[in-house]
Amino acid sequence: MIEEILPPGVRSAEAFDDLTPAPLFPEEAALMAGRRQRRRAQFATARACARRTLAELGLPPAPLLPGAGGAPQWPDGIVGSITHCDGYRAAVAARRTDVAALGIDAEPAGPLPRGVLGLIASTTERTALERLGAEAPGVCWDRLLFSAKESVYKAWYPATGRWLGFTEAEVHLSPTGTFTADLHPVTTPPPDATLRFAGRWLVRGDLVVTFAARSGGA
Ligand SMILES: CC(C)(COP(=O)(O)OP(=O)(O)OC[C@H]1O[C@@H](n2cnc3c(N)ncnc32)[C@H](O)[C@@H]1OP(=O)(O)O)[C@@H](O)C(=O)NCCC(=O)NCCS
Repeated sequence: MIEEILPPGVRSAEAFDDLTPAPLFPEEAALMAGRRQRRRAQFATARACARRTLAELGLPPAPLLPGAGGAPQWPDGIVGSITHCDGYRAAVAARRTDVAALGIDAEPAGPLPRGVLGLIASTTERTALERLGAEAPGVCWDRLLFSAKESVYKAWYPATGRWLGFTEAEVHLSPTGTFTADLHPVTTPPPDATLRFAGRWLVRGDLVVTFAARSGGA
């Protein structure tokens, strides 16, 4: 499913359950010690997905450990992203020479819990959601906005090491399945930071998936 929204050069793997045994490296297993079974299972399945993407890029299996801020530490020269939600786990990876920064997110395809939209969306974004909702009422536009912002964050953070709040990105969703994000960080960003991301979205069955990358590719 997620491959439908990925540009050339980005490899992906996904799973809709945790039924296939997904072995962990000892360092990864140690991280999950004492965690709930559900978390261990989704972590392991997502790691298995990540290793499949890396194999497609010609890289051997290796531990994929979290670094600063929880972002996975991908092998040198690789950018990647992981997501999991009920009924879905996925990983994507690409050579940094093909894509400078990327992120993915998956969410249940339903409205955001009451009160969340007011915390994550600007007035402009809320107005746009009302228009989109009138044009295409079957799409959970508020959840899509949330997911797009999370995928942007997952692309932004590994490149900058900086937190980014939901209201520091203005996302423009298009009914054609694309979006752009213009970032307005409240603290001065690193000089080489990208402030414009572009992405794609897909709603399929019970799931929303989004992909964001530095606008203009590598
Ligand atoms: C980090 C965050 C984006 C994760 O999203 P989520 O919907 O809760 O969970 P998902 O399952 O989709 O993603 C979890 C995976 O994201 C990855 N991740 C975690 N922190 C990350 C970071 N700082 N940068 C990049 N990837 C990160 C990890 O791979 C994690 O899975 P793992 O722990 O099994 O390795 C979210 O919890 C968060 O903190 N959001 C607030 C910041 C934000 O989104 N701002 C919006 C700016 S426009």
